[in-house]
Amino acid sequence: MTQNPVLKPFLAVLSGQKQAVPPIWMMRQAGRYLPEYREVRARAGSFLDLCFSPELAAEVTLQPIRRFNFDAAIIFSDILVIPHALEREVRFEVGEGPRLEPLDTPEKARSLAKRADLNRLEPVFEALRLVRRALDPKVTLIGFCGAPWTVATYMVAGQGTPDQAPARLMAYRHPDAFADIIDVLVENSIEYLLRQLQAGAEALQIFDTWAGVLPPREFARWSIEPTRRIVEGIRKKVPDAKIIGFPRGAGALLPAYVEATGVNAVSIDWTAEPAFIRDQVQSRVAVQGNLDPLALIAGGDALDRAVDDVLASYGSGPLIFNLGHGIQPETPIAHVERMLKRVRGKAG
Ligand code: CP3
Repeated sequence: MTQNPVLKPFLAVLSGQKQAVPPIWMMRQAGRYLPEYREVRARAGSFLDLCFSPELAAEVTLQPIRRFNFDAAIIFSDILVIPHALEREVRFEVGEGPRLEPLDTPEKARSLAKRADLNRLEPVFEALRLVRRALDPKVTLIGFCGAPWTVATYMVAGQGTPDQAPARLMAYRHPDAFADIIDVLVENSIEYLLRQLQAGAEALQIFDTWAGVLPPREFARWSIEPTRRIVEGIRKKVPDAKIIGFPRGAGALLPAYVEATGVNAVSIDWTAEPAFIRDQVQSRVAVQGNLDPLALIAGGDALDRAVDDVLASYGSGPLIFNLGHGIQPETPIAHVERMLKRVRGKAG
């Protein structure tokens, strides 16, 4: 709220204060590129068993912090725990991704519960409390949820698809039924994020991974408006809540998203055009991003150039250094170390 000189670097950036060395973390930083994650994952049973075992979820949340000393930890969970709490069947097939019972007709949409049983997500809140207790006070703890549009794309199709055609079709053919699904997700996401704040999360990220498949009118209705309602609902209870939006692929629609939603920062993907982002986005809110995850796989000079480009493009304003999307499993750990050294050694 007010300028606080003892704010830790990550939260200072979310308050609009540029840092000489940008705080850094990586989307999907707990994951399969880490041998210590694969080891815990192998003994956890299913992916959801791992998400819902507080000690194990806390452990894998902390692993990348111990190894890389990142400025933020993101709680280990998934955006699809909300459909799970809405009593939809959710499974993760190894090597294939999520599988849910499809919700692709107005009749099925009518059967959707209005209120999630958030007690089913108590293990996530317990994991947050465990992580906060174990974490260095200088490290920020991030909670998250999926944006209603992105969660709905998986609920409608029952799985990931290349362009989320099933949800787009349903939104055109049955806008009222689709709006009912979105409304349920908005209300329950507000409660879920508020409970994460109570459990120790200090910042929140709303992942709208599939925002970029929507034309402008649909983007306004299904990405911007539900996100705006979530931000408003949270700030009604926690006025100074710090919220990062990630409408992946929003491109030229990003300024409208920033203006309407009231987020404190936006995470941008690697296709962003720097002058446009600086003028239209970073002039209003902090920017998070946006190294191409493939440059991180490639390493070497290509990685150094890509890191330098992010710093040169956005380092003169409030910046959280991150990737433009999640780190991929085949990424060499040495490349993450190289990126960190370059960001922390060079900026400033
Ligand atoms: O960032 C982190 O380290 C925190 C944990 C986190 C996961 N998923 C763990 C995970 C976060 C923030 C997510 C978000 C998420 N989940 C998104 C939005 C961000 C994005 O990356 O686009 C989406 C769309 C999902 C849904 C989801 N979960 C898919 C499509 C898949 C399968 C694809 C894949 O990468 O395997 C998952 C599974 C998943 N979620 C894994 C992890 C570490 C891999 C499963 C495993 O380890 O067995």
